[in-house]
Amino acid sequence: MTSEGLGSVAGLLLLFAGHDTTMAMIGLSALTLLTHPEQRSQLLDEPAKVGPAVEELLRYLTIVQFGLGRVAKEDLELGGQQIAAGDLVVVAMPAANRDPRAFDAPDSPDFDRRMTRHLAFGYGVHQCLGQNIARAELKTILPQLFRRFPDLKLAVPVEEVPMDVYGTNYGVRSLPVTW
Ligand code: HEM
Repeated sequence: MTSEGLGSVAGLLLLFAGHDTTMAMIGLSALTLLTHPEQRSQLLDEPAKVGPAVEELLRYLTIVQFGLGRVAKEDLELGGQQIAAGDLVVVAMPAANRDPRAFDAPDSPDFDRRMTRHLAFGYGVHQCLGQNIARAELKTILPQLFRRFPDLKLAVPVEEVPMDVYGTNYGVRSLPVTW
C-alpha cells in the first residue's frame, strides 16, 4: 500500500474507532448520571471527582462489549483452560471490569472507588490509541451537559430507553429527555 493509502486507512481508523465509541460512551454516561442523582451531584459539586468519575464510568459501562480478540503466541493455561498456540481468545472486558475479585461492589458506579486499572480501553500494545482524547472529551462534556441543562430528566421510564444491545458498542439508540 502506498503511504497515501496508509494515511487514509489511519484517518478512517481514527474517525470510526473514535466516533462511535465516544458517542456511545456519552449517551450511556448521561443515562447513568440521570438515574444516579448522588453521583451526578458529585460530578458537578466536586471538580476533583471529574477524573475518577470518568474512569469509573468507563469501567462500569465498558461499552466495547464483545471483547478483544487475541491470538495465543504459545501454549498456555489460563483460568484452568488449556490454550494452544494459534488459538483465538476472546476477552470479555465487561466481565473483567465487573469481576468482584478485582472491584468491590462492581455493579455500582462508585466515584470514590480507588481504582488502579480497568480494561475499557483494552490492554497491551494495541490498547486504545485515542484514550486520552476520549477521557478529555468525557471530562468536558459530562459536567457541561448537566450545568447547561440543570433540569435535564428522562422523558420516558428508564426501562423504555431504547438500547443498542447487539452493536459493537453497547449504548443507547436514543435518549429521550426533557429540560
Ligand atoms: C470512550 C471512548 C473509547 C473507548 C471505550 C475505546 C475503546 C477501545 C478499545 C477497547 C480498543 C481495543 C484495544 C485493544 O485491542 O487492546 C480500542 C482501539 C482503538 N481505538 Fe479506541 N476507544 C475510544 C475512543 C477512541 C478515540 C476517540 C479514538 C481516536 C481518536 C480511538 C482510536 C482507537 C484506535 C486507532 C484503536 C486501534 C489501536 C490498535 O489496534 O493499535 N478510540 N479502543
